[in-house]
Amino acid sequence: MPTCREDVKGGICICLKIEMSKIFTVFGATGQQGGALIKYLLNHPRFLKIYRVRGVTRDVGKSSARALVDLGVEMVEADMNDPISLEKATRDSHTVFAMTNYWDTASRAAETAQGKALADAAVAASATLLIWSSLPRIGLPNFDSKADVEDYIRTLPITSAFFMPGWFMQNQLTFARPQQQEDGKYVLKRLFPGCESTTLVPLVDIEDIGRFLQPVLDEPERYTGMRLTGCRAFVTPVEMCRAWERVAGVEVIFEGDNNGDGEDVGVKGEKDTWGGGGKEDSPYYGPGSKEALEWTLAQMEEEPGSWEGFVERCGPWFE
Ligand SMILES: NC(=O)c1ccc[n+]([C@@H]2O[C@H](COP(=O)([O-])OP(=O)(O)OC[C@H]3O[C@@H](n4cnc5c(N)ncnc54)[C@H](OP(=O)(O)O)[C@@H]3O)[C@@H](O)[C@H]2O)c1
Repeated sequence: MPTCREDVKGGICICLKIEMSKIFTVFGATGQQGGALIKYLLNHPRFLKIYRVRGVTRDVGKSSARALVDLGVEMVEADMNDPISLEKATRDSHTVFAMTNYWDTASRAAETAQGKALADAAVAASATLLIWSSLPRIGLPNFDSKADVEDYIRTLPITSAFFMPGWFMQNQLTFARPQQQEDGKYVLKRLFPGCESTTLVPLVDIEDIGRFLQPVLDEPERYTGMRLTGCRAFVTPVEMCRAWERVAGVEVIFEGDNNGDGEDVGVKGEKDTWGGGGKEDSPYYGPGSKEALEWTLAQMEEEPGSWEGFVERCGPWFE
């Protein structure tokens, strides 16, 4: 934050103008992670004075891109499959938030190539900081591709940090929403292969992404090479169901313990179950997940939102 009180011309602090020339380029600006990060930056008392936000989309004419322009975001067109367009989009960037959407291609190789191209573009732009939306290597294509990109970024000459998002609470509003059965009862299907009633699911309200990145933005050098565990808490599917019952008064039954035969909403990988570690760990992150989360939460100036709070905010769930 600028502290100078002297260099004021026409009411505008020169230091402030210099600070505001830091371009923060956000990939996936029209999506969940990028969109939430932009909202956070535009509303944060410190960061709104430091950064000029640039958002990347394949189509600046789409309504979600135009809505961001209305908020003062510079929207530029680029395609993650086209490295030249990425170089243009990242030009003069101070900070780059890079993410890929596995589901766009459903290909590990394609997502890895996109992520590496994003990282190369950030290096070519001489960006000061690259934040990569990563995931741990747990034998699933949509995780391992991101881990491959993380490994690649670690070899590059750029200050970088890694956001490891948990299971988005927002999934429960769409493809993982409790479903009503013929008998009228609501059922929560397995969230991912091997997810049982006692499995620790790392839940994140992805609207909180900025809160997780705040420590890195404030002190990039301190967090170089570090991973931020992106969830509020580990919640079991049965506890998730209890929150619906408490908040909405509707019983939801978890359908996960059918000797492994239950239907899941998640993607299948090389293994029948996700991740690793013992019962005390979350299979999503593997061994050491609880300690990693505790450390991350201790770095943040604002607490992320809880599952119960999300259930309250996002109703009505059952109509
Ligand atoms: N859901 C979860 O629980 C969860 C948890 C952890 C990680 N993830 C990961 O999160 C990712 C999805 O993130 P999200 O939900 O924030 O995405 P999203 O809401 O589906 O939005 C995707 C964004 O990516 C952009 N995009 C896609 N392909 C592009 C391309 N070729 N060039 C330029 N931009 C492109 C889109 O921009 P335009 O369409 O405007 O061009 C859009 O802004 C996936 O990789 C998934 O594996 C999800």
